[in-house]
This record gives sequence, structure tokens and C-alpha cells, in this order.
Amino acid sequence: MQPTDHETELLIPLHVSYIKALDTKVDSLAYHLTTHLRMNGVYWGLTALEIMGEPQVLDKDQLVRFVLSCWDDQNGGFGSFPNHDSHILSTLSAIQILAMKDSLHVLEERGMKQTLVSFILSLQTPSGSFQGDKWGEEDTRFLYCSVSALALLGELDKLDRKRTVDHILRCGNFDGGFGRREGAESHSGQVFVCVAALSILESLDKVDVDKLGWWLCERQLDNGGLNGRPQKLEDVCYSWWVLSSLSMIKRLDWINAEKLSAFILSAQDPEGGGIADRPDNVTDVFHTNFGVAGLSLLGYRGLKQVDPTYCLPSEVVQKLGIERDYQR
Ligand code: FPP
Ligand code: ZN
Repeated sequence: MQPTDHETELLIPLHVSYIKALDTKVDSLAYHLTTHLRMNGVYWGLTALEIMGEPQVLDKDQLVRFVLSCWDDQNGGFGSFPNHDSHILSTLSAIQILAMKDSLHVLEERGMKQTLVSFILSLQTPSGSFQGDKWGEEDTRFLYCSVSALALLGELDKLDRKRTVDHILRCGNFDGGFGRREGAESHSGQVFVCVAALSILESLDKVDVDKLGWWLCERQLDNGGLNGRPQKLEDVCYSWWVLSSLSMIKRLDWINAEKLSAFILSAQDPEGGGIADRPDNVTDVFHTNFGVAGLSLLGYRGLKQVDPTYCLPSEVVQKLGIERDYQR
């Protein structure tokens, strides 16, 4: 049987229309049920558009206005939607959107930058870990978001680097991977956040990269997809968490790129557009972004280069002068 187009080609125009349409469904129930993820959703959609070379599909002024409308002037962070409590997950997405739109300068112009930096630094605990917000949940995801945000803002020198790096290393496990906190099991998403934070903090020399590389490449299954942990199913978003980590530790060629690329393409919806977590499932903007970003790391033709540490177009990261050394 001959493979169909959606099994061999990335359907760029269809995915662009899919993301554009998400922006117009403001009367739908789904739109109102997902306000807690809106800032992240805008970041995922915009990043995918940038990598596919169609960033202008979302209006720049409207994006900047939306981001600014989510600022919490009480504590200096960003929420996911106007009047929502601020959280480091939405704060990083807000900063990433401004970076992609070359608009980080508005933070300084509006006198928001110093309170924003103070908000991020206030999330660090005495042990070096980070909380996501004032309510206190700690996770290496929040540490990564804080470190990446400070780097994008050019304020990394305000961070206690040693305390931060020591905490990440304590979250490392005997199998070479990393978990969400000390003693927690290895998980590819947590490997990404720990490795990317170490990359930003120029401390990857403290990691046994061969052991970690083995754990990561063992995530590839016979169908070409990657899973997040042993015994779990493949999922398109792990194309990002695993591949970007392999790129940062310069072991990108330890997995079968052709099989992974075919797996990501097979999870596209050839009618409605978008990419799902695995073939025949419902698509969403999260998996669309990480599928497209994964293909970019694999050097898929026609896509812009993505930065594995910041999950932003390489051009944006280079312009800010914060790029690290990777394997492409
Ligand atoms: C898996 O999540 C993914 C992670 C644990 C990493 C998430 C990282 C961030 C939110 C930081 C921001 C990231 C970027 C790229 C800017 P999951 O809950 O889906 O795991 P599961 O597959 O085990 O359910
Ligand atoms: Zn997923």
C-alpha cells in the first residue's frame, strides 16, 4: 500500500489554518474552559507558526496587548488570562511571546521589569528548588521556567547559580535521568527541564551524558515514536522532550530520525489540520507545536531552526545573545 501525503509530508498550510482558526473560536465552550492555559496556548501556537515560517498569522499588536493585559501589578508575574493569579508557567510563556515579537523592551518602558524579576526570584526556596506560585508546589519544571525567563530578560546574574545547579543535580537518578524533585522517578519531560536549565547555567559538564543518552535513546519504540518513561506509550510531545535533551548533550544521532519523523507525520490530521499525541487521536495546539518543533530539530525541510534549550526560533535566541552550544 502506498503511503498517503500526510504520512510523508508536513501539511504546513493546513496546520497554519488550524492554529489561525483557534484564535477565532472565542464563542465556543472550549475557549472558556481553557482560559487557565490561554497564555501557554498562545505561546505554543505562535512558536509553531514561527517555525513553519508564518508568524504574521497572529497580529503582533494584539499579542502584545493580550500579554500586558495578563500582568498582575500586585506581585509582578503574569497570569494565563486577565485577572487570573500569576504563575511561573504563564510568566515564561508571556516573556517568550514578547521575545518572539521583539517586544521585551516594553517591560522596561512600562516600569514592569524589576517587579517581574523580583517575582521570579521570590519563587526560589532555601534548598534551591522553585515554587510555581505563592501556593508552594515545587517542581523542576518551575525551576526551568524561572531560569529561562531570567536568561531571556538578561537578568541571570541575579540568580544564585550554585544553589540552583546543586538542586538540579540532587534531582538526578541512578538511571541517568532526572525527576520533578529529589527522589522522584526519571521522566523525559523532567529530563528536558533539568538539562535545559543546566545548559543555560553552563553546567552540563556535571552530568554523565553517556548514561543519560542511553536512557533517552531507549525511549524510542518499534513504531518510531518516543515515550516519556519505560513501559509507557509513545507520544508526539516526547519528540521534543527527548530530542531537545539529546541535542543539548550532543547525542542527537543516538535515535532513528527517519522512524521518528514518520511517526510524527502519521499523527497529523489530514482534514482538520493539527497534530495529535499519536495517530488517529484528536489534535491540539500543544502536540502541534511539539511535533513541528521535533521535526525542526530533525532538520525537516522548509522549517525554521528551533533552539533546543529555550524552545524558541534560533533567530530570536541568537538576537538576544544567549545561545548555547548544541548538536544539530
Ligand atoms: C510532560 O508532561 C512534560 C513535562 C513534565 C515538562 C513540561 C515543561 C514545562 C511546562 C516547561 C516549559 C516548556 C517549554 C518548552 C518552554 P505531562 O504532564 O504531559 O506528562 P505525562 O505524559 O507523563 O502525562
Ligand atoms: Zn503528549
